[in-house]
Order: sequence, then C-alpha cells, then structure tokens
Amino acid sequence: MAPTGDDKINVLLLENIHPDATGLLSSAGFHVETHDGALGEDELAERVGDVHLLGIRSTTQLTEKVLDRAGNLLAVGAFCIGTNQIDLPAATRRGVAVFNAPFSNTRSVVELAIAEIIALTRRLTDKSRDMHAGIWDKSAAGSHEVRGRRLGIVGYGNIGSQLSVLAETLGMSVYFYDINDKLALGNAVRCSSIEELLESVDIVTLHVDGRPGNSGMFGEAEFARMRPGSIFLNLSRGFLVDHQALRGHIESGHLAGAAVDVFPREPKRRGEPFESELRGLSNVILTPHVGGSTEEAQQDIGRFVASKLRHYTDDGNTSLSVNLPELALPERVGAHRLAHVHVNTPGVLATINGVLAEHGVNIEGQFLGTRGEVGYVITDIGAPAADKVAQVLREMPETIRLRQLS
Ligand code: NAI
Repeated sequence: MAPTGDDKINVLLLENIHPDATGLLSSAGFHVETHDGALGEDELAERVGDVHLLGIRSTTQLTEKVLDRAGNLLAVGAFCIGTNQIDLPAATRRGVAVFNAPFSNTRSVVELAIAEIIALTRRLTDKSRDMHAGIWDKSAAGSHEVRGRRLGIVGYGNIGSQLSVLAETLGMSVYFYDINDKLALGNAVRCSSIEELLESVDIVTLHVDGRPGNSGMFGEAEFARMRPGSIFLNLSRGFLVDHQALRGHIESGHLAGAAVDVFPREPKRRGEPFESELRGLSNVILTPHVGGSTEEAQQDIGRFVASKLRHYTDDGNTSLSVNLPELALPERVGAHRLAHVHVNTPGVLATINGVLAEHGVNIEGQFLGTRGEVGYVITDIGAPAADKVAQVLREMPETIRLRQLS
C-alpha cells in the first residue's frame, strides 16, 4: 500500500543488489530501477530527486549534499552490514529511515571459522604445502580432532553465539568472554575476564565489534597468555590485533597456527597489492575479508533489507532501523495511520493528541518511540485524517516528517 497521495513509490537500487530485492519490491507495487555500479555524489544528487527508496551497498557515499536534493526520500537500504558510507545524523535530521542487514551473513562467517578451526587443528595448510612440493608425509604428529578441544570465543554477539552452537555440535567445549551480560547457550561456559579465557582454551577466536575502545585490544600480552600450541582466529576487525606480535608468536612456535580474514589496511579494489606482516607463513590462513561473502548471504541481505523498506513504506515499521526509534508494530487492520517523525522534546505527544481531539479524530491505537533527538509516533485513526488535520500536524515546529498511510 503506497502512502496516500503518492501514485507510485520509486525505488533506485545501485551497486548490483541481489535480484531478490527487486522482485520483492516490484511485487509490492513499487517502481524499481536498478543500476550495476555506484553513483558519484554529483550524479546521485542529480538522480535522487524523485526517489522514495534508495538501495546502496558500501561504495555509494550518501552525503548531506545528496540528502539535500532528496526531497522525496523516505528510507535508505544499506544492502550490507556497515553504514559508515551514510551520513546518519543528516538522514535522521530529515526523517529518512536507514536499514541494513546486521545478521544476514552471520552463518557464513561462522562456517568459515569452523572450516579454519578444523583446517588448522589438522595442520591441513602444512600438509597441502608439502604435497605441492612433492613431499608425502603421513605423520599424525600435531594433528588433532576438534572434538573435545576447548574453543574460546571473545565477543558473544550474533556471530560468537552462533559459532558457540555449531562448535558444540562438533563436540568442542566452548568458553566465552563478553563485556556485556550474555545468555550462555548450550553448555558454553562464561569467563569473567579475557585473561581467564586465554589461559583456559586451545583455540581463541575474536568476534567483537569495532567500537573505538577495541582498537589494538589483542597484542603481545594477550598472545603471550595463550596456551602453547594453541590457535588464533580473527574474522572481526583488522585494527583489533597487533599482527607483528602475532607473527612473532607463530615464528617462535608458541602458537600452532592462525587464520586472519581482516586487516588494518585492506586494498580498496581487486588488483591492488596486499601488504601484511603475516604473509609467507604456511600455518597462517589469510583470506581477503570474505567471512561474510557467500551467495547465500547476498541473497539473504537482498531479501532482508528489501522487506524492511517495504514494511516501513507500507506500515511505518522501523524495527531494526539504524537511526530512527524502533517501533515493531502490530499488523494494521483497517485503520488509517499517521507516521510522525519529530524532534524529541517534551509535550509533542500531547500536542498531537490535542490537535486530533480538536478535530474530532478518534485514536484507535498509538505507539511512541524515542532515540536521542528524534521521536517517532504512530497513531492509528478510524478514518483518513482530513487535509486540514494533516496540515496542522505538519506545521508543528517539532515535525520532521508526517506520512499518512492508508
Ligand atoms: P555483534 O555486535 O552482534 O557482537 C559483538 C559482541 O562483542 C557483542 O556481544 C559485544 O558486547 C562484544 N564485545 C565488544 N567489545 C568487546 C570486548 N572488548 N571484549 C569482549 N566482548 C566485546 O556483532 P557480530 O554481528 O557478531 O559481528 C562481530 C564482528 O564480526 C564485528 O566486528 C563485525 O564487523 C565482524 N564481521 C566480519 C565479517 C567478515 O566478513 N569477516 C562479516 C560480518 C561481521
């Protein structure tokens, strides 16, 4: 259902977004245009004027200049995990909702971690290197089953907790450390400090987020605390780890192996040279930030973000929005809906309800959420609000954006 007054919702999807997104948005009755590459700032500013929903991935920069030209823009879908490419405060100030896909590639990262844990525990990289060099070595020395081994997960969020479940199905004993209180899944054991975890496990894997305080969190002292012969993985963020220290502990034989998917400096595009202290070590698996890169994850991102855009457009639902207050609304049955993004100051709700009462509009349901400087109130009413009512609400000084959904 399109917002009242709009003939058609125009969608622009850039950067080769998965076709499932196009399918889902077209089937909602939206007019979808796709573009394989990213658009530069000027080109996008030229193009965005009649766009209601914009889909981008990580290359397109959504700047304030572009947003200034995007008078019809309701929402932006970041068809990826990160949203650094979007000027979020500028979007919020204009009442533009932003959505992303925070856990569409969780499973892909977890599967890569499991593959690497098994590969390193069985010394597959050394065996493969030897075979390519014509060396036939059937020795079992240093090769282990993962069953019964102790896995230490640092950061028990989406990825860490999912890894915990799959690792247990392989017979591993899981220990975890998280700065926040987390429900320990299955038989996982919570450690009260990272030091306790490092001293307890055979494999350490980092799955923390990239908050500034985590920069350089894993260095010489942390590697030195790990048990001799243990394995280290980082598939989270490159700037968390001191790679020179890691190299030292691999070369000394203190650590049996490592797998690293993320780097402090990553080439911006294919073909650019990759530099790292970790190159040239046969028991270190290096991958080019592909933890979440699978066709399944891309498809899930396409469906997930497209469905968020659709529900926001049709019903005002902001659940899992990156910037607006989150309102997960019950399904709307028959009622007309006012979706009102406003400045979060005391008395706004009372003013809205006063205006509605004054014009004899009956409220059937109402939901309010606030987030920092922004408030979002959904009001279900029995009949469409008269133009006069909508106009009064729009003219409130606190109003950022008012939509009537029917
Ligand atoms: P999340 O936000 O669900 O979980 C992060 C967890 O780390 C939270 O529970 C948080 O409390 C905890 N944490 C933060 N700082 C900590 C610290 N210093 N010590 C202990 N715990 C700490 O994030 P999610 O989705 O699980 O992602 C984890 C990481 O994986 C992120 O850094 C993300 O950027 C990265 N990632 C990498 C991908 C790849 O392609 N390699 C793909 C997807 C995510």
